[in-house]
Amino acid sequence: MPENFQTFTARVLPADLQFDVEGDLTLLEAAEMSRVQLPSSCRNGTCRTCLCQLISGEVSYTIEWPGLSAEEKAEGYVLPCVARPLSNVVLDQPLAKAA
Ligand code: FES
Repeated sequence: MPENFQTFTARVLPADLQFDVEGDLTLLEAAEMSRVQLPSSCRNGTCRTCLCQLISGEVSYTIEWPGLSAEEKAEGYVLPCVARPLSNVVLDQPLAKAA
């Protein structure tokens, strides 16, 4: 099965919300489809409104240069609006809530 057709589970702490990410959806798109509200604004990886920390798992980006510094990437920060999971993921986003 091609990698981008796998379904992964995303969990968001500390509210402990969970949603599935199917196909080539970004974390933000999949959250919205599952009525999980994550902060967002530009939705194209530049404004950093959606910035949160990846506690576990891996993501890849839909754009070449998401608005993150190398240090932020090293510390596990991700931009869910342009990130697709490569595994099940756990995110730390204190502003997340059920819609
Ligand atoms: S919503 Fe702007 S960087 Fe993600």
